[in-house]
Amino acid sequence: MKKLIAVCSILLVIAVAYSCKKSAVVSGSSVYLDLPTTPYPYYDSFAFFQPDSLNRKATLGRVLFYDTHLSLNNAVACASCHKQEYSFADNVSFSVGYEGRLTKRNAPAVMNVQGRQSFFWDGREINIRNLSVRPISNHVEMGITDPSTLPQKLAALPYYSNLFLSAYGDGQITVDRISDAIAIFMQAINTAPTRLDRYVDGDSTAMTAQEVAGKALFDSKYNCSSCHNGGVRPGMFNNFYGGGGGSSFLDIGLDNNYVDMGRGTITGIATENGTFNVPSLRNVALTAPYMHDGRYKTLSDVIDHYSHGIIKTPNLDPLLINNSGNALQMSIPDQDKQAIIAFLNTLTDYQITTAPRFSNPFKIN
Ligand code: HEC
Ligand code: HEC
Repeated sequence: MKKLIAVCSILLVIAVAYSCKKSAVVSGSSVYLDLPTTPYPYYDSFAFFQPDSLNRKATLGRVLFYDTHLSLNNAVACASCHKQEYSFADNVSFSVGYEGRLTKRNAPAVMNVQGRQSFFWDGREINIRNLSVRPISNHVEMGITDPSTLPQKLAALPYYSNLFLSAYGDGQITVDRISDAIAIFMQAINTAPTRLDRYVDGDSTAMTAQEVAGKALFDSKYNCSSCHNGGVRPGMFNNFYGGGGGSSFLDIGLDNNYVDMGRGTITGIATENGTFNVPSLRNVALTAPYMHDGRYKTLSDVIDHYSHGIIKTPNLDPLLINNSGNALQMSIPDQDKQAIIAFLNTLTDYQITTAPRFSNPFKIN
């Protein structure tokens, strides 16, 4: 609506209309940066030290996150695979990166990263700041092998020196600052309270009878919450069903021969082969397809796996082994399945999919 007013400035900065040479933009059109005059309040709801400075860094991080110039051929941005409409996950099993190459795993939702102990399906990264630069230098994802070439490349674009000036007090562009700003932006992507949270906080009208039944099935009858728990993380409000936070890696019996060794690849420990991070189920309704390889298209497919698809893999989690030592078949009747799916839908925060502060700041004329 009043967006056009915002076209004009970022603090001191005049947003610059520039033509995009190689990006996937319709030829002949021009791309411009649309940033608010006063940075969005990414950090105002928490009493963080220097929220203004954090907000300016997050603003820069947002631009970097959406900027295809972070890839070698100016065609791939972080947001190409981490899409806002899907809670910053991708809606395909394997994402398309640099020169059309596919990722080896399903792109997870980037959200609620604060307090996480590790990242990626195998937990190979523990520092979110490193993680911001690694996809850039990863051949499959963005094609840039040496991130130290990036500052010079970005400096040639008309909009960055002012954005770095605003965020860091001078216009110098460094790899550290690039990582820092992207990390600060990602740390601001937190899910808002959902219907489940309202219910847990005492509003019994926030969930339907079927959803409440589904919650009980998930928590008790089928013990899903033994693994998908989450609880409350430091510095965050409720994160029930938020997953292991990058601290637990388990094998749920997907493949007899591990196609992907998961955590085992990183630790070299044989009993960790085929184990993967317990994913957060926040926004799970938005993040299909599912599992580390995106093998299941729907939540119904996922429940079918637990119902009758678990395979007795070498490292199958003991919770999924029955008394006779075989793979557990939960045999979930259709009514229970529908209730669990209804419950999983109460974990959805739809605001994240449209919030302007997380959206693509590059607009096309
Ligand atoms: C071509 C697609 C693609 C691009 C581009 C991409 N990512 Fe990813 N991202 C993935 C995939 C796939 C994974 C999971 C990899 C794994 O677990 O082995 C991932 C994982 C992550 C994670 C960890 C999430 C979690 O829950 O563990 C974060 C954070 C992340 N990416 C941020 C970024 C940032 C920042 C950029 C841009 C600098 C970026 N990604 C660019 C596909 C992509
Ligand atoms: C033994 C621990 C464990 C139990 C019990 C368990 N899960 Fe999982 N769940 C996992 C792990 C680990 C993954 C990721 C596996 C992978 O990708 O290889 C997962 C993946 C999922 C996913 C996909 C999430 C995504 O983003 O890809 C859903 C949905 C899910 N589980 C729901 C359930 C439900 C419903 C139940 C109960 C019927 C349940 N889980 C029981 C550990 C468990």
